[in-house]
Amino acid sequence: MGRKTFYLETFGCQMNVHDSEKVVGTLLAQGYEQVDSPEEADLILYNTCSVREKAEQKVYSRLQQFRREAGAGKVFGVLGCVAQQEGERIFERAPHVALVCGSASYRRLPELLARIEAGERRVTGLELDTDETFETPLTRRDNPYRAYVTIIEGCDKHCTFCVVPFTRGRERSRPSESIMREVRDLAAAGYTEIQLLGQNVSSYRDPSPAGWDFVTLLEQVARVPGLRRVRFTTSHPREFDRRIVRAIEENPVLANHVHLPVQSGSDRVLERMQRQYTRAEYLEKIEWIKSARRPIAISTDIIVGFPGETEEDFQQTLSLLDEVGYDSVFSFKYSPRPNTAALTLDGHLPDEEKGRRLAILQEKQRAIQLRRNSQWIGRTVEVLVESFNPGTGQWVGRTSENRVVNFTCPEGVKESLAGRYVHVHVTRAGPNSLAGELAA
Ligand code: SAH
Ligand code: F3S
Repeated sequence: MGRKTFYLETFGCQMNVHDSEKVVGTLLAQGYEQVDSPEEADLILYNTCSVREKAEQKVYSRLQQFRREAGAGKVFGVLGCVAQQEGERIFERAPHVALVCGSASYRRLPELLARIEAGERRVTGLELDTDETFETPLTRRDNPYRAYVTIIEGCDKHCTFCVVPFTRGRERSRPSESIMREVRDLAAAGYTEIQLLGQNVSSYRDPSPAGWDFVTLLEQVARVPGLRRVRFTTSHPREFDRRIVRAIEENPVLANHVHLPVQSGSDRVLERMQRQYTRAEYLEKIEWIKSARRPIAISTDIIVGFPGETEEDFQQTLSLLDEVGYDSVFSFKYSPRPNTAALTLDGHLPDEEKGRRLAILQEKQRAIQLRRNSQWIGRTVEVLVESFNPGTGQWVGRTSENRVVNFTCPEGVKESLAGRYVHVHVTRAGPNSLAGELAA
């Protein structure tokens, strides 16, 4: 028998992307070989997202698409948030699926796959009440310069719109020693950028006797020799404290960027979302960031059309965009999710109205970003180069603020710049990126 092959497609957030890197490493260690298309694979896996309905529908359309192939002896598996949320119901909707496994059970994947190979028709890993985080020395990272490192899993908040606490379980912090070992190994292997990951990183609490909090962890990670940039995502405004800003100020390795999801600019809506802060409290934290000794970029997440959101509430979200002047915004139409408290609130809005509000908000933010990005024209920025785009003849990279920069090189620079930190002279700005030339 030849080698067993697998195909894995990932949907959703950075947590999922990183989980997939761990799953790939685990499967390779089991003797599987990764292939680029479902047609070539014996095992077809989807690591799914259920944060909004659209994301959830994607996996079912993928499963339908390759259903006909199931007869050819292929094994289909659903991983991630849809797996956890839907459980065995997936077998009813897509009878050719053999494996359903949520992120809290990935440690069991080798065992579950062995059972399928031994002839079991359907296997599940759906335990959620675990203390474990899924860590493995086998992680196969996609990006050779920037590495994701999980520091905390799950979420104990209950924002009324959000399915994450039901799909990723309760908060579990990873021991600081294990995090530091991984970060040192990554730095030694040549990674210069680290992104610390969790649904709510600012709640980090070291379970080991050292007892570090998030700020201590940040400071320690930033001190690891060889690292140039350390980022973290996501911090909840409720636990975002001033010491995080101080740590950034004092430590140039901590990137000039904070992602602080606000969701709405209206106190009424924030209350109904159970976000546990008011607009004024949120703005106070924004002030800390803005008054830092070095400029720090700010990004956020916003939901429009939450149940009961009036025109007046929506206007308050728009005015918040002006007040903060975000460098980037991820905005979404409210999507009703299973098990969440918001389902039972009154005042659900028609889809067209949510769409109208989203379009207005995105148009406004686009103008704000264009204005903010234009201020960089004429300046020089430091870029971690990621890749070359043969279509445009430009290199692509990011600044410490996480801005995308496309740039050209003078004739003569022929060597690969990927993975290097270079200076770029900014000559043009769009709403989503800067463009320029390699500085001499
Ligand atoms: N842990 C993060 C958010 C995780 S989900 C935090 O603390 O905010 C990522 C984003 O998806 C959220 O910030 C929210 O803006 C959006 N989102 C979550 N549930 C949603 C829903 N039901 N409908 C629309 N957007 C949603
Ligand atoms: Fe979701 Fe709120 Fe946690 S958005 S991930 S319940 S902080």
